[in-house]
Amino acid sequence: MSPVQGRVTPPEPPFLAACRRRPVPHTPVWVMRQAGRYLPEYRAIREKVGFLPLTKTPDLAAEVTLQPIRRFGMDAAILFSDIMTPVEGMGIGLDFDPGPVIENPVRSPADVERLRVADPQETVPFVMETIRILREELPASAPLIGFAGAPWTLFCYVVEGKGSKTFIRAKSFLFAEPEASRALLDKLADTMTAYLRAQAEAGAQALMLFDSWAGLLSPHEFRAFALPAVQRTLAGLADMDVPLIYFPNNGSTLLEDAASSGAHVMGIDWRTPLSRARALLGPGLAVQGNLDPAALFAPREALGRQIRRVLDEAGDDPGHIFNLGHGIERQTDPDALAYLVDRVHEWTEGRRTAAGAPSGEGESKARRSGAKGPGEASAATQEGSAGVHGIGEGREG
Ligand code: CP3
Repeated sequence: MSPVQGRVTPPEPPFLAACRRRPVPHTPVWVMRQAGRYLPEYRAIREKVGFLPLTKTPDLAAEVTLQPIRRFGMDAAILFSDIMTPVEGMGIGLDFDPGPVIENPVRSPADVERLRVADPQETVPFVMETIRILREELPASAPLIGFAGAPWTLFCYVVEGKGSKTFIRAKSFLFAEPEASRALLDKLADTMTAYLRAQAEAGAQALMLFDSWAGLLSPHEFRAFALPAVQRTLAGLADMDVPLIYFPNNGSTLLEDAASSGAHVMGIDWRTPLSRARALLGPGLAVQGNLDPAALFAPREALGRQIRRVLDEAGDDPGHIFNLGHGIERQTDPDALAYLVDRVHEWTEGRRTAAGAPSGEGESKARRSGAKGPGEASAATQEGSAGVHGIGEGREG
């Protein structure tokens, strides 16, 4: 398509266009934990530097952020840091082994009282410096995602003191001390709002809130505690012109409630089909996800089938960002990820372009005539009924 004569506007990177549910030349793809231990070049740096110092040294943190972009050509970069980084400034002693370990866990209302809302410029200036370096180094095709932990997930670590499967201490604190719990969630929310604002001001082009432990809560507790804290965090960012992404991990029972988080994009874990997520969330939100990270351990053909399933479930509506349904596993073969990124690009080329947007004429004509994008025909042949059947037509809801 030729642009209107005389008007040259740089194209919006596919990742940002998809966040805004606009047409894209291909489905953008990035993966959670794309910078990390599955990459030999990351392990080489980690042999010399501890994890915490790595996050606090802007040149190195920027280098590690760039590693997967160089190797795979993803459509977005994510700042290398950790969800716990800004919590230290609130008065919480932090170490990693390999997950977060808290020196002085919160165990009483008095402990909550003692915590302060942290000023990011004072406590984590190295994060903003890393972002400034990255905006110089990154290609325009890979916008930079800033991130923070959602208040409830941070609460889990801060109260429990370390990682856990059940977070019994954190959850029982929530039941026993609802007032102090709300006060702690508010302090965490306000710290994260200031932290995310500072990231966007330094150059982050989208902001993501990781709620890794949302799925530990019943819908009742989610509505009473976790969701209001997310809403509070995101409401403080609504005036900024950056897409907001919320990822309630293991949140299949929480999606309808999560729709009112204030985010523009919902991260969907691998347990909920994207078609169902879309039906539950309504048309106003983009979705991000949700290939099972275990699929990267399967032979290429099986991996290909899983990738197609995700694309099929996502349908033709604009507003899908391809991702894993949780972080990439440390034992993953980097070549499997290269295959994933290349196939998503190849198989979606031209699918959600302006001419082919689902509400537009072009798309319905293309569909009626049975036109297929590159790769689709072979998939249908290889996979029979499991293949792409006119993407979007087989949706459940
Ligand atoms: O590439 C990226 O995604 C950016 C960097 C990033 C890290 N952690 C680096 C990291 C991001 C976005 C996170 C978020 C994070 N950290 C979450 C939310 C996402 C999720 O997985 O649900 C959580 C829960 C944490 C807390 C945390 N930090 C854990 C549980 C661990 C241990 C992980 C493990 O697999 O053992 C960490 C440490 C950590 N954060 C590592 C990395 C690369 C490994 C540290 C090392 O190099 O030893």
